[in-house]
Amino acid sequence: MDKKLDDIVSLCKRRGFVFPGSDIYGGLANTWDYGPYGAQLKQNIKNFWWNTFVRERDDVIGLDSAILMNPKVWEASGHVTSFSDPLMDCKNCKERIRGDKLIEESLGIEMAAGKTLKQIGEIIAEHKLKCPKCGKTDFTEPRSFNLMFKTHQGVIEETATALYLRPETAQGIFTNFKNIVQTCRQKIPFGIAQIGKSFRNEITPGNFTYRTREFEQMEIEYFVSPNDKKEIKKIFDEWKKSCWEWYLALGVNKENLRFREHEKDELSHYSSMTFDIEYKFPFGWGELMGVAYRGDYDLTQHSKFSGKDLSYLDPFTNEKYMPHVIEPSFGADRTLLITLIDAYDEDEVDGEKRTVMRFNPKIAPVKAAIFPLMKKDELTSIAKEIFDTLKKKFDVEYDDSGAIGKRYRRQDEIGTPFCITVDYDTINDQTVTIRERDSMKQERVKIADLSEIILKQL
Ligand code: GAP
Repeated sequence: MDKKLDDIVSLCKRRGFVFPGSDIYGGLANTWDYGPYGAQLKQNIKNFWWNTFVRERDDVIGLDSAILMNPKVWEASGHVTSFSDPLMDCKNCKERIRGDKLIEESLGIEMAAGKTLKQIGEIIAEHKLKCPKCGKTDFTEPRSFNLMFKTHQGVIEETATALYLRPETAQGIFTNFKNIVQTCRQKIPFGIAQIGKSFRNEITPGNFTYRTREFEQMEIEYFVSPNDKKEIKKIFDEWKKSCWEWYLALGVNKENLRFREHEKDELSHYSSMTFDIEYKFPFGWGELMGVAYRGDYDLTQHSKFSGKDLSYLDPFTNEKYMPHVIEPSFGADRTLLITLIDAYDEDEVDGEKRTVMRFNPKIAPVKAAIFPLMKKDELTSIAKEIFDTLKKKFDVEYDDSGAIGKRYRRQDEIGTPFCITVDYDTINDQTVTIRERDSMKQERVKIADLSEIILKQL
């Protein structure tokens, strides 16, 4: 099925997954708020990530570090000097454009990858690329634009310290490396994981939540010994595999995923090898997450800038070394976006179009909805009792409004795997009808078995 982003955006608003940010004030461009189902879906995705990569592994521990950090962090990390995009202005309509994106969208990703500012200007001129807004070909020379958001700490403006909102969660992990080695019993190889907000003053945000200025990352910095290159490659490949398998376990269609290695001149300033997992979005293939080999770049830089020795004394070999880092970095919002796109489907029921979100039950925001067939006390009391029992274990909903068909459609649109209906037979035999979202098959089951049936799907 040919999925359109507009249909998904509209369903998200209609059903309370994602609302435009600051809506009642006319919005704030490219900001989005997660509504009740979106917030629950995001929570489920983050929990699934944390369970897979932290709770179920012996070699990864968690962290929750501050968004605001000493500004020296960003000098050390290279973000002050190297974290920028090529920005151009259209001289005709004044539209701000990312030069590399204009090339990527007009001539393909290969033409855009890793080009210098001068090369970007030349390619745009040579191919007479047009401004996407006004269609003219008259741009300023591309110049470097730093993507970090600046803010101030302190109440008196003149004496306030200029700070940055963190552009990646990773640096909080590096700056806590020594604390963690000293306080936890982890020995290299081990990883530190965290989930949190990051901020980038993107020049061309867009495509719904794909590229925004405020977003959430789920990152792991995995520390390894620098000595055995073969071992590093093996661990790197294992991380690639674990990340790929995580997306499959999330229920994402394999056909929509691929790996792409970064070209040498496309690599971030800290990386010497990066593989992205890309997803086939309605607007083309795009980055979902990346696994980067950061070497000892960050710990070495922070040692230099902070004056604190961040090297590691290996208790097994008695060797002192600067650990190397393998970094799997996921976007929580992009992951949520692909679960929406992947789950979105349309079919037909009794000659009528049905929109259904085929979420993996593991991440579905609502696991089951409980309906009394009619709003009659003898039915609603049993339905509420079932709801009260199930809600202790699962995210469930109670709904007694409108025709049963309408209630099914609503649950299909939010991707609820099970609908449970209480009818007059329930009063006598303690059974209910359970209807499965995808097959729409209905079965008569005992109330006492409901928990087990739902649990099996999770
Ligand atoms: N610490 C490494 C790092 O930040 P990145 O490739 O710049 O690497 C990692 O970002 C992930 O964060 C991306 O793969 C993407 O999922 C997400 N991400 C980055 N910029 C984003 C943006 N502007 N909007 C939404 N997600 C973004």
